[in-house]
Amino acid sequence: MEQQFDAIVVGAGLAGLRAAIEIGQNARVAVISKVFATRSHSGAAQGGIGAALGNEEEDNWEWHMFDTIKGSDYLGDQDAIETLAKDAPRTIYELEHLGVPFNRTAEGKIAQRAFGGHTSNFGKAAVKRACYAADRTGRVILDTLWEQCLQREIQFFDEFQILSLIVQDGRCCGVIAYELATGKLHTLRSKAVLLATGGAGKIFKTTSNAFASTGDGMALAYQAGAPLEDMEFVQFHPTGIYKLGILISEAARGEGGILRNKDGERFMERYAPTIKDLAPRDMIARCILEEVRAGRGIDGKDYVHLDLTHLGDDVIGTKLSEIIGFAKTYAGVDAKKEPIPVLPTCHYMMGGIAADSDGRVVVDDQNTPFPGLYAAGECACVSVHGANRLGCNALLDTLVFGRRSGMEISRFITKTDLPEPTVNFTANIEKKIADLMASDGQEKVGAIAAEMQEMMMDKVSVFRTADGLKGALAKIGELKDRYRNISVQDKGNCFNRDLLDALELGNMLDLAEVIAMGALYREESRGAHSREDFPQRDDEQFLKHTMVRRTEDGPQIFDKPVTITRFEPKERTY
Ligand code: FUM
Repeated sequence: MEQQFDAIVVGAGLAGLRAAIEIGQNARVAVISKVFATRSHSGAAQGGIGAALGNEEEDNWEWHMFDTIKGSDYLGDQDAIETLAKDAPRTIYELEHLGVPFNRTAEGKIAQRAFGGHTSNFGKAAVKRACYAADRTGRVILDTLWEQCLQREIQFFDEFQILSLIVQDGRCCGVIAYELATGKLHTLRSKAVLLATGGAGKIFKTTSNAFASTGDGMALAYQAGAPLEDMEFVQFHPTGIYKLGILISEAARGEGGILRNKDGERFMERYAPTIKDLAPRDMIARCILEEVRAGRGIDGKDYVHLDLTHLGDDVIGTKLSEIIGFAKTYAGVDAKKEPIPVLPTCHYMMGGIAADSDGRVVVDDQNTPFPGLYAAGECACVSVHGANRLGCNALLDTLVFGRRSGMEISRFITKTDLPEPTVNFTANIEKKIADLMASDGQEKVGAIAAEMQEMMMDKVSVFRTADGLKGALAKIGELKDRYRNISVQDKGNCFNRDLLDALELGNMLDLAEVIAMGALYREESRGAHSREDFPQRDDEQFLKHTMVRRTEDGPQIFDKPVTITRFEPKERTY
């Protein structure tokens, strides 16, 4: 089945929906999502969205810009970060006008709270910069944008998985999608494609990410020749529920929650004397694991406590009710009375498809665009997060760059035609699916996925070494070989989860390889990338982006310079 649109947006999270609203003003846009739109992982975002509104205390966008650069360990591109911080207040007021129910101050202004790494006066003290709707901020924004899309009659293809980009003469002009309910393939042709497919946390065993976060957009762009940027920078959020990884929002610490070791000590006072439990995530994740290594985990085990027992019913009831429910349901803990057992959990990919701040996917160190292909949100690396993202900057990134991508796509599609198809792309994909369904290979998808996740957790998570990373790459090579011999047990066409798992696993193995390669290449410690054999940041050799391109001889690394406009790299203390 073939259909044509001016633009296709893949992914119905915040970046995708915001872009679709922009494009849909004057053009025919379709949104494709492998889950029902409002089940997109943006809806799981809890704590807030950053903007220097100054509603609770003095603030300005330049402090936000500085904090984001410092938080990124100076790897973020400062021109893009300036765009992010400057556009943040406008973004919040736009959401307010669209109907997002933010919490309010007593005077009726949008309420704000503290979040890790956000400070006033260039690092002097923590500042309240996160706008929030209790601890379900992503949920309310997602629902609001979805309603706006419905009002504008934007067409949705819910529960459609994209299997390939259509690239003709170097230009992206559509996608091939698989309809989960029927097993039918759809050829959707368009002048432009925006990838807004989110992250890839499912590569790791313990993650706060949804099951759908398998990095499909990143992998498909990479398979189509677009480079991936800074993939070695994987964020571990300090407070996942022990063993499960389910997120307990940083908002809990923003509202006064305290991390404690087995002695009840507030250990972050030792590591970050100025902002303590509100230090950036990369630091806190390492500090928790240092406490565990030093034998100060709870009962000598591998977790610490997040203590909210002193916060009181009002704060908990109006600002943190969701996470109290999570602690009860998943850890069996009444967090009003007892501490929550927590451990770092894979939360966010700082890296992604290399893109500029108008969402254009770029193919080299000169930022040459890949015609017709755009990326925004977590799957993209516009490089506003560098080596470590600050909490509350992810939702902001999706909306600022989702909108800008939408604006750029609107410009692009008015000055271009849809090329006539010269190749039958669907035939290749039909064959790939038919081969997979017919295969009687001996390898099981679930077993390979579990080994990949376990190994990535063990060798490529918070602390890394050359030996571990070489072992990881060898294991990924072995898993890729075994993947060629998988079979799909379910031979049906209706919601064939088995087939989907197989396709997603292929994507995750490609990304796992790029993450491990980048981590081995980067012989320094910066932000979330902590090499025990190279514990210092090395600006002389590694103040640069790692780009990985797929070639016939395997992945190939090249560099791209970091854009520094205002803040020269300094030692990062908090
Ligand atoms: O902790 C949180 O609520 C997560 C926020 C974020 O990742 O920005």
